[in-house]
Amino acid sequence: MANDTLTITDNRTGKSYEVPINEGTIRAIDLRKIKVEDTDFGLMTYDPAFTNTASCRSSITFIDGDAGILRYRGYPIEQLAEKASYLEVAYLILHGELPTASQLKEWSFWITNHTMVHENLKTQIDAFHHDAHPMGMLCSSIASLSTFYPDARNIGNEANRLKQIYRLVAKVPTLAAFTYRHTKGYPYVYPDNDLSYSGNFLNMMFKMSELKHSPDPVLERALDVLFILHADHEQNCSTNAMRSVGSSQVDPYSAMAAAIAALYGPLHGGANEQVLRMLAEIGSPAGIPDYIAKVKTGEKKLMGFGHRVYKNYDPRAKLVRDTAYQVFEVKGRNPLLDIALELEKVALHEDYFVSRKLYPNVDFYSGLIYQSMGFPVDMFPVLFAIPRTIGWLAQWNEMVQDSEQKIARPRQIYTGYDSRDYVAIEHRD
Ligand code: COA
Repeated sequence: MANDTLTITDNRTGKSYEVPINEGTIRAIDLRKIKVEDTDFGLMTYDPAFTNTASCRSSITFIDGDAGILRYRGYPIEQLAEKASYLEVAYLILHGELPTASQLKEWSFWITNHTMVHENLKTQIDAFHHDAHPMGMLCSSIASLSTFYPDARNIGNEANRLKQIYRLVAKVPTLAAFTYRHTKGYPYVYPDNDLSYSGNFLNMMFKMSELKHSPDPVLERALDVLFILHADHEQNCSTNAMRSVGSSQVDPYSAMAAAIAALYGPLHGGANEQVLRMLAEIGSPAGIPDYIAKVKTGEKKLMGFGHRVYKNYDPRAKLVRDTAYQVFEVKGRNPLLDIALELEKVALHEDYFVSRKLYPNVDFYSGLIYQSMGFPVDMFPVLFAIPRTIGWLAQWNEMVQDSEQKIARPRQIYTGYDSRDYVAIEHRD
């Protein structure tokens, strides 16, 4: 049987090296012994944007991008979206197993009991300008939670980590809803702990003068499904930020603020917002050929299409599309849906997209649902951050316990000047 090793011949020296292969991977540090001179630093790999570098070993989420497969802890996303609740999936992602009835009860109890936030956070949100982006307000609010819970610094203690996880999963919807209420000038709505996780979020968003808010069960379930679909996605940009910042052993609130900042970008969690803006810009199915032509010349991007990992239909996109029809039954058909469906059809037949394996991703249809449910476009990335909280925290929790992990610190290829002497200001050109 063949050895699980890689033999590398360095043509600069003619020397050969044998490097072990484990789990289809070589360790970059094993290349360090490849040198021309003894004093050399040794061979490095160059991988901007980590396109072919594993930064960790993880047992949380599995993606096969070519086959369009997504599983949390081994369970196919389709089964979880059909059968589970968001809190059940959140437990699974964190603990690795589906909860028993009593574990789910206890987990839900702790999440429910941490939904309130310190009143000073309301004052802090009040200080933002009326048109502040909700994602900026959420990012700052989460960062400031670290000042309310200084005990969170003790990241080596498992029970302590769990307490911060309860707090974050519970408080993110409250703060998210507060950012919306602030932009509208509406009074803040306190959590209603009789409601489900998603139902309570809808309550804090949309309750007006009624004594008790009763969310529509179809919308509540649709939101829960969307939360399940967004709960984790292995080593994406924001999760990498969470792990990278968390590797300095900072508290999880500060690390999560960094993850939210990463998610805010239009190439990541901001994409669903951009999809809606794009559909509005296209205006009607008649505007599609012109837009596609601009995409092909590089003038525009087809937002909600393409993915670093999926080179096939994103399995979440199909589930989101199915959920959209359920929401439209209650709220009426979103007129932008026709543009989206036609755009998808045209793009999937165009050589530009086919040859680059560009398919709709999770963001392509989610914005249409959110808009129909009454969420303003600015809130879309926030609606991504709420469910992703458990993914970030599970990944952080895994990293903290991984004895192979250290402070994240990539190498660089230095391309600047060699040593040169300081020039006095009067002698500079
Ligand atoms: N519209 C038009 N062209 C696209 C495209 C899109 N949405 N996504 C990728 N491409 C093109 C690139 O221009 C590139 O073409 P080239 O080979 O001629 O240069 C090719 O497809 C490969 O794309 P690349 O940018 O190398 O892929 P990536 O893995 O670095 O980027 C994304 C992945 C998600 C950032 C990218 O597909 C994108 O910007 N999509 C739109 C934003 C979005 O929906 N993000 C949400 C992700 S869940």
